[in-house]
Amino acid sequence: MTIWLRTTKSTMLDAAALAMRGEAHGTVVVAEEQTEGIGRHGNAWHSPDNGGLYMSIILRLPLTSDAMPVLTMALGLGVQRAVDEFCGVACDIRWPNDVMLNGKKLSGILVQMVDKGTLIGGIGVNVSQPSFPETLREIATSLLIETGRAYRKEKLLERIVAEVLRCSSLLTERGKAEIIRLFEERSTWARGKAVEVDGRIRGVTAGLNEDGFLLVQTDSGVETILAGGVREV
Ligand code: BTN
Repeated sequence: MTIWLRTTKSTMLDAAALAMRGEAHGTVVVAEEQTEGIGRHGNAWHSPDNGGLYMSIILRLPLTSDAMPVLTMALGLGVQRAVDEFCGVACDIRWPNDVMLNGKKLSGILVQMVDKGTLIGGIGVNVSQPSFPETLREIATSLLIETGRAYRKEKLLERIVAEVLRCSSLLTERGKAEIIRLFEERSTWARGKAVEVDGRIRGVTAGLNEDGFLLVQTDSGVETILAGGVREV
């Protein structure tokens, strides 16, 4: 089931409320506009009217909390594939799950656990914003800006939902190692990228460990990055 809303605070909150009332795996809440869009690390997610696809999907998966980092990567892989195939572009994924197009962020993903086995995958995709506020201009982009085309959000949504459900099933059926393998294959950020993490660690990415954490080779050894903002240097 897909529920389209005009305006809401955050589709993550709506999907969580529906999940608590028993709505099924795969139920999606989408809004044209969010007034309090939630991003990672306590940031807001810029969610203007007529710009992006703001969707949250209920995932009922037999996963424990240790699989959460890899689940967020699985969602990133799903969004990457859906956008690539639907729009004929070649997105990258910046660890852990920012979908990038031509070096700028096109999509952000946030996973929250509602209850044991019930998760909400929140996905924001910049579709038709002609521009971004000053503070985001250097780091964010949209499909319209990169391709010059206006895509139908309904069709893109269908593809994203299908791919996100497929990649989540891959995780539950084949385990973390398969998602990590795919991520290393489809992200230029997993290996050999000179990065800085949260302005404190500098080094070169050296793959992911078995829990999906990023390894960074620094001058003083290998650091395991559990969370944080990674940028290229
Ligand atoms: C990030 O900071 O990269 C994650 C952003 C996630 C944004 C999406 S938009 C749909 C859903 N509703 C929210 O309030 N947040 C997520």
